[in-house]
Amino acid sequence: MSTAKSSDKKVTTHRLLEMKKSGEKISMLTAYDFSLARILDDAGIDVILVGDSASNVMAGHETTLPITLDQMIYHASSVVRAVERALVVVDLPFGSYQGNSKEALNSAIRIMKESGAHGVKLEGGREVKESIERILSAGVPVMGHLGLTPQSIYKFGTYVVRAQDEAEAERLMSDAKLLSDSGCFAIVLEKIPAQLARAVSGSVTIPIIGIGAGGGVDGQVLVLHDMLGITHEFHPRFLRRYLNLYDDIKKAAEHYISDVKSRDFPNEKEQY
Ligand code: KIV
Repeated sequence: MSTAKSSDKKVTTHRLLEMKKSGEKISMLTAYDFSLARILDDAGIDVILVGDSASNVMAGHETTLPITLDQMIYHASSVVRAVERALVVVDLPFGSYQGNSKEALNSAIRIMKESGAHGVKLEGGREVKESIERILSAGVPVMGHLGLTPQSIYKFGTYVVRAQDEAEAERLMSDAKLLSDSGCFAIVLEKIPAQLARAVSGSVTIPIIGIGAGGGVDGQVLVLHDMLGITHEFHPRFLRRYLNLYDDIKKAAEHYISDVKSRDFPNEKEQY
């Protein structure tokens, strides 16, 4: 199958803006390590997000809250070493930017300096405006994240679809405009009604990248381990699984165990 690379040139924040203008959809996936990031980059993915979902899928935590700035930098550096074309964006982890804007700037600078990433993402609207402005003033590109914001899961109490009532929808729309006016280069909208997401995309000039936000936005993002079927107990409606690697890897491991126990592996040709 041929890949859908929009161009062989490096993807920049400016290029994402052009893609929105021309109607070319933006593809984004998460990655947390060198090997998988290299495959995604070779496949022609536009943006790789070193998401704080690493806290769940890599470290086995129940939420994204426990992952630290040092751990995010470790994952991000591994990804950056693999990538030649994609734009690499790194999540600012919980507790690294909410305290005050100086702390937010220091966290963003550490990510950019120590990992070599191309930008940061952070969750929230008006409540993190000052932090966003301070990070942007240092020349660091910022991606926003509205709707279901997993770092606030204990405030929401549940992972249900957000902004279903008018008041929350209005607040989200005005936060999206604020992030766009502040200079963010893109916004992730997570798990909100498709109609609202389409309206947000139509009312701002920057790209809107959806996860569970329907097809009316400018691009899509999924968590890599979910779309590959490595995680297998998570079945949200928005998730399309492209592989079922949980079963494939389990079968391969069972086969290997059986070969070792039966002395089939290694055979004559597999030794020195
Ligand atoms: O951390 C993450 O993987 C994310 C995506 C769900 C957008 O923020």
